[in-house]
Amino acid sequence: MRKTVILRRCLLSLCLILSGLSIFVFIMNFASNVEGDEGKYKEMFRGFEDGKCKSCHPAIWREWEKSMHAQAWIDEIYQEAAKQVANREKSCDPCHAPEPILVTGIGKMPKLRSVQQESGVSCLVCHLDKDGAMQGPLASAETNFHANVTNPIYQSPTKLCATCHGQISVPEHDQVSSFLKSRFAAEKKSCATCHMPVVNRIQSTASYESTKGRKHTWRGSRSVAQLKDATTLKIEFTGKKATVTFQNKAGHLLPGGTLRTIVLDLTHLTPDRTQHEKKQVLISEKAKNRLKPDEKRTFIFNVNSGDTLKAVLRYQLTSKTPESEWVRMGELSKVAP
Ligand code: HEC
Ligand code: HEC
Ligand code: HEC
Ligand code: HEC
Ligand code: HEC
Repeated sequence: MRKTVILRRCLLSLCLILSGLSIFVFIMNFASNVEGDEGKYKEMFRGFEDGKCKSCHPAIWREWEKSMHAQAWIDEIYQEAAKQVANREKSCDPCHAPEPILVTGIGKMPKLRSVQQESGVSCLVCHLDKDGAMQGPLASAETNFHANVTNPIYQSPTKLCATCHGQISVPEHDQVSSFLKSRFAAEKKSCATCHMPVVNRIQSTASYESTKGRKHTWRGSRSVAQLKDATTLKIEFTGKKATVTFQNKAGHLLPGGTLRTIVLDLTHLTPDRTQHEKKQVLISEKAKNRLKPDEKRTFIFNVNSGDTLKAVLRYQLTSKTPESEWVRMGELSKVAP
């Protein structure tokens, strides 16, 4: 009789211990889901610093390394501008050396990172989640180093880009708002269409086969090819009138940034090549005349048969860039019939 009571009590306390333990395990699990896997998360930062990402993803690394994302902190133009801002840690640095945005929230204002600031917008900023996994488009191979998590946002990443290129409170750096109102957005294109072109290459050293990915170069204002694609120039003659038309082909306001100026020089020459008229138009945020996507600007001249019209478009990176370094975006010359 006594023995069964003892046995019962033993079983009861065992049950209590077990249920206590499972509640504990449940709470711990819950906490780790909220906090993420801190060990794995930190390991990815060490891996980035120790060159692990570079050794398994050499092709993508080489592309990123030369991009403005890799320079976002060390860029001299940035540092020079940020130096003049009293509370730069709050108003500038958060986007130029951010914490991973999957952790601080897609679309939310990024937060300043306290480590590895010199690596600017690094791989981790766009791909690392709180569990230490890499989120991306569909991965085909496995790796023990990090988990791969498929997230559809990477296939059409405008929302991802908008975290830094489309904060309403930072209109100086907003390419997204004008894009969203454009034909490109209606045609289901994204920022990646023009800035991360499709490429066949190995995604990691774990595979020998090239697969489709997207270039991590983000060519923009420093790319002559990108600038040449930004506009079209046309000269048409009707009767005694010449119409010069210049159209924005970029997916957003042109120029895309607020530091840039496009200089349009128009020259009207008579048949003996003496200059008849000369006109210079500056297009910039400062002049409040940036072009919306697909927007056209036209200039009309009165001409006679045999007159020549010449249009030259040049791109000035900042107000300090000397004229000898302005990039020729396009030029056209036509003789009136
Ligand atoms: C919301 C994120 C964000 C914040 C905040 C931010 N930037 Fe930027 N910055 C960007 C992005 C995105 C670009 C690239 C696109 C562009 O130029 O619009 C950029 C580019 C720049 C450039 C151009 C660098 C070059 O070489 O082409 C300068 C200069 C700059 N930022 C200075 C600043 C300063 C100064 C502040 C603080 C007053 C600041 N930024 C705050 C996101 C941000
Ligand atoms: C031991 C090799 C190895 C290392 C080290 C490594 N990766 Fe990977 N990673 C891979 C493999 C394999 C894949 C899958 C690629 C494929 O599908 O072919 C991958 C995929 C990815 C993806 C795509 C994930 C997806 O779901 O689409 C990202 C992003 C990524 N890695 C980033 C990184 C970053 C950042 C680092 C450094 C912190 C890193 N990787 C280090 C092997 C590695
Ligand atoms: C500014 C954000 C950004 C940064 C920085 C970035 N990536 Fe990506 N990455 C993307 C996007 C967007 C895609 C989706 C492209 C696609 O649809 O194929 C992608 C795709 C990938 C893939 C899948 C293969 C491919 O080409 O699509 C791998 C692997 C990868 N990234 C690794 C890296 C590594 C390694 C770094 C650093 C050297 C890095 N990424 C830096 C945004 C970024
Ligand atoms: C975490 C913030 C962040 C995210 C996310 C981000 N960018 Fe950027 N991006 C920047 C900053 C900051 C710069 C400016 C670097 C500099 O010039 O100092 C920049 C520069 C660029 C440039 C080059 C600008 C130039 O002057 O030529 C392009 C193009 C670009 N980003 C496109 C993209 C696209 C496309 C995406 C989405 C796939 C994206 N970015 C996502 C912060 C970000
Ligand atoms: C139809 C092609 C196209 C699409 C779509 C597009 N861009 Fe651009 N982008 C360009 C061209 C061309 C330039 C170079 C001319 C210029 O400076 O605006 C450029 C320039 C830029 C620059 C450099 C601006 C500067 O002054 O330094 C940034 C940053 C940028 N784009 C970001 C984005 C983002 C973010 C998206 C998505 C909302 C996007 N782009 C969509 C074609 C495109």
